[in-house]
Amino acid sequence: MAKNLLVLGIESSCDETGVALVRVSGQGLPQLLAHALYSQIEMHKAYGGVVPELASRDHIRRVLPLTQEVLHDADKTLQDVDVVAFTRGPGLAGALLVGAGVACALAAALGKPVLGVHHLEGHLLSPFLSADTPQFPFVALLVSGGHTQLMRVDGVGQYQILGETIDDAAGEAFDKSAKMLGLPYPGGAALGQLAEQGDPKAFKLPRPLLHSGDLDFSFAGLKTAVMVQTRKCAAALECAVDALPHATLADLAASTQAAIVEVLVKKALTALKQTGLQRLVVAGGVGANRDLRRQLNVECARRGVRVHYPELHLCTDNGAMIAMAAAMRLQSGQQQANCDYAFDVKPRWPLDAICVEPTL
Ligand code: KG4
Ligand code: ZN
Repeated sequence: MAKNLLVLGIESSCDETGVALVRVSGQGLPQLLAHALYSQIEMHKAYGGVVPELASRDHIRRVLPLTQEVLHDADKTLQDVDVVAFTRGPGLAGALLVGAGVACALAAALGKPVLGVHHLEGHLLSPFLSADTPQFPFVALLVSGGHTQLMRVDGVGQYQILGETIDDAAGEAFDKSAKMLGLPYPGGAALGQLAEQGDPKAFKLPRPLLHSGDLDFSFAGLKTAVMVQTRKCAAALECAVDALPHATLADLAASTQAAIVEVLVKKALTALKQTGLQRLVVAGGVGANRDLRRQLNVECARRGVRVHYPELHLCTDNGAMIAMAAAMRLQSGQQQANCDYAFDVKPRWPLDAICVEPTL
């Protein structure tokens, strides 16, 4: 691999268009030069969830202006780019195709190679963009809108899944519960904010698989319990669910958050104990949750475990994590960028498919 490389990264797997430029120099950690993001949340709010066709069309509108913005901010030109990386999956097929198509077209026009990146690897390596970077090996708690996994990470491409959700993801549990409480899509952050004003012990909600003895999760039953409890409150107060008093909604939000967070914290601590590792990395959108961070910080400090998070604004989807993952892959020598512009995308793509030695 050449000593100095500029990697342009494009993320378009769901409802955020992200572009970033990362510089690789020698064996040091790649440096983020600039990144830009456009979130489609406002557009999808009206529908209560992501509308895939609208998402794809909006990515088309945003990706080139964001690329120009990033190049401008980093004081670079397209000709300076050495590798164009893009999210190849998992995600929405149409949305992924926009990023892949643009990345391959740009690279072909420039005569530069491309690299398809796994979205979850992007999340997993996003704490390397922080000032306080982790060291391998570590346990990773990956909590996003579509995934909830505990992993042992020994290096780039060395991921062993220790446990994962058997149904809904933690982010989904946040989002679906938030919807029942009348909060706007995507709900996770809004539920977290509302929960700060409520009593986490006000309602007794289930902690699925808390004592299962393994590292798997299940959140599908929780949303049903939240729905039942919300309807009970409305019946008791003889009002519609959407007319529940603010204090009741805050208590429901706090109780829901407490149930999700307790399970995540307990299983993360069990994973640390089982592996004997002293470092935890938390990544993915739910990693922005204040209560989760607070509790993990307390419990980990008590056990002498270091916890690393991505910066708050890099917890949810962004281009920086894609450029970073591509840069770290190239640097590790595990993958070469290539000039095969006949791109495809992988809407479903298990993480073990990109491991150096598949561990599942
Ligand atoms: O990683 P991400 O941006 O997208 C996926 O790859 O899925 O994660 C999005 C998820 C959503 O479910 C969103 O509600 C949740 O992360 N989320 C939060 C918070 N911020 C984002 N959940 C709880 N508390 C937050 N502060
Ligand atoms: Zn994501």
